[in-house]
Amino acid sequence: NHLRHVESMAHLPSGAGRITRLNALILGEALASEEDDLVFPSEDFSRHSHVSSPHKYLEMYRRSVQDPAGFWSDIASEFYWREKWSQQVYSENFDIRKGKIKIEWFKGGMTNICYNCLDRNIESGNGDKIAIYWEGNEPGLDTSLTYNQLLARVCQLANYLKDVGVRKGDAVVIYLPMLMELPIAMLACARIGAVHSVVFAGFSAESLAQRIIDCRPKVVITCNAVRRGSKIIYLKDIVDSALLESAENGIVIDVCLTWENDSAMKKEMTKWMKGRDIWWQDVILKYPVTCDVEWVDAEGPLFLLYTSGSTGKPKGVMHTTGGYMVYTASTFKYAFDYKSTDIYWCTADCGWITGHSYVTYGPLLNGATVVVFEGAPSYPDVGRCWDIVDKYKVSIFYTAPTLVRSLMREGDEHVSRYSRKSLRVLGSVGEPINPSAWRWFFNVVGDARCPISDTWWQTETGGFMITPLPGAWPQKPGSATFPFFGVQPVIVDEKGVEIEGECSGYLCVKGSWPGAFRTLYGDHRRYETTYFSAFPGYYFSGDGCSRDKDGYYWLTGRVDDVINVSGHRIGTAEVESALVSHPQCAEAAVVGVEHEVKGQGIYAFVTLVEGVPYSDDLRKSLVMAVRNQIGAFAAPDKIHWAPGLPKTRSGKIMRRILRKIASRQLDELGDTSTLADPTVVDQLIALADC
Ligand code: WT7
Repeated sequence: NHLRHVESMAHLPSGAGRITRLNALILGEALASEEDDLVFPSEDFSRHSHVSSPHKYLEMYRRSVQDPAGFWSDIASEFYWREKWSQQVYSENFDIRKGKIKIEWFKGGMTNICYNCLDRNIESGNGDKIAIYWEGNEPGLDTSLTYNQLLARVCQLANYLKDVGVRKGDAVVIYLPMLMELPIAMLACARIGAVHSVVFAGFSAESLAQRIIDCRPKVVITCNAVRRGSKIIYLKDIVDSALLESAENGIVIDVCLTWENDSAMKKEMTKWMKGRDIWWQDVILKYPVTCDVEWVDAEGPLFLLYTSGSTGKPKGVMHTTGGYMVYTASTFKYAFDYKSTDIYWCTADCGWITGHSYVTYGPLLNGATVVVFEGAPSYPDVGRCWDIVDKYKVSIFYTAPTLVRSLMREGDEHVSRYSRKSLRVLGSVGEPINPSAWRWFFNVVGDARCPISDTWWQTETGGFMITPLPGAWPQKPGSATFPFFGVQPVIVDEKGVEIEGECSGYLCVKGSWPGAFRTLYGDHRRYETTYFSAFPGYYFSGDGCSRDKDGYYWLTGRVDDVINVSGHRIGTAEVESALVSHPQCAEAAVVGVEHEVKGQGIYAFVTLVEGVPYSDDLRKSLVMAVRNQIGAFAAPDKIHWAPGLPKTRSGKIMRRILRKIASRQLDELGDTSTLADPTVVDQLIALADC
């Protein structure tokens, strides 16, 4: 079905070496619509790319959906397998009506992703190639590791972990900022078959504790402190209180391995629990620099990564080894048109899926050189990104629309004073990129020379799902273009009926792909109800989407109770539960509103306990409650006092009305007559600017 949509595109000229519509736009000619704005890769770019034309894409795409077993086996064969997978290649039940949802790829195969990232590349002669360039928060503070050096560091840590009793299948929680030790720790776990769960170091002690209690790790890995911009964050203190809370819930952690990040804080200043807390630098150097690999089943767990859903409890998304390896490696290669001479920088943190798939595994599986940046992109000034691009000769730069928009506001001169001539491909992820930010990224950052891969995917999908292949297709600013190989997107209506051609609706996927998550840790039922029950027969993404007349996909944002703030996914229920934990808050309802830089902002309606007066201090302490329970990135942008919330007679909060009030679309409130008490709406409007 999708094949037909893309086939209708094949008539387009390829590699035309011109930016026709865009030129029209620069010259001030009006376009009929965004859909008509085609931006072509240069002829030279296309000619040298892995997938050089729509025709080539179609050929590969056709095979990937008609013969997935053959298509993916060929790619999998590029990696090292201790034992080959069984004849069947994959098996799936994707239809809840036919029983338990089950996805398996390369079953029976035995491999190790750390071996494939490091040893395999070293054996093929790349041991002295730089694996990681690390750039510290302070300009001038930097270091690097070759593949040989990285392997040695990974092995030392792996040996230590084994020594303290970490075995295949055990969980290890990693709570680290963007130090080299973060990918090192992930790879060390993978090497010995341990399951890492990285917790973004911006999460609060309570969120960390919640995750530790859920996955019960053998070891927690952290550092004493980190500098971010001009601030110091005392991570070890946060871990201490998380471990206290875990212990109160019966989960006692015996080992807290702590990296001494001496550029932020001296050892002696760090609070210490003798016996439990161990300085990384004190123990690791004693271990051998080689470590045998633990071969794991292709379907053996690789990692857990917690993400937000529409209820309060975070979901432990579980990825397995074989399919994830094949999928992250191939998506990285094709979507960024990766070549061995590229220098790649992704600004995401390893605490999110982007940092798993496209800072660590995807690039290293390809033997790439990766820049890891510790700091904030506007420190010491807003030119820092381009300073780093020039310093390391970055050729592929992958970031989030929120960063593009915030830099765009600062003015072009902060970009144009740097050369950026090494750049070849740009990438965007995390939320829809609005066409004006796309054009600025394209014209100003990329000098109208670098295609932009606007990659749509999710924590759950493991890797890119809908993405440009930069040499193959003309792009449309704001569209993620077409599905990756093996992915069959479908758009359905409210009833779950597939709609064809030009349409909008809910974005689902038909059939599995190797990188798909296999379960939610400890809660397979929730996996099935959240993702496979809304539209039986399909995986439901939670996103709205439209497809234009040329078959291009346009993502329109979440359709569930999830807010996307600067590319960070936050459940409204999580923020509400943090607010109502405040003793003076009786009730809270949270909605997303459009935000110029962050994409969406968090807008909270708060009803106070009877008799408590409104005050700015109270507002601050409500925001503080959210920071403490979730993390600073989830702090509400606005607290709107609400004497009452608009509810139906059965007590359900009508969020539709709250969204309209939050965005001040007061003439679009719609029918309020079904409310239990319609006067609350007027009260809310009256308090809008208090
Ligand atoms: C949600 C997934 C996948 C890595 C980062 C976020 C939104 C992501 C795009 C894009 C439009 C996008 C979706 C999706 N999203 N990339 N290129 N265009 N929307 O991962 O935290 O799992 O969030 O981010 O709404 O469902 P995540």
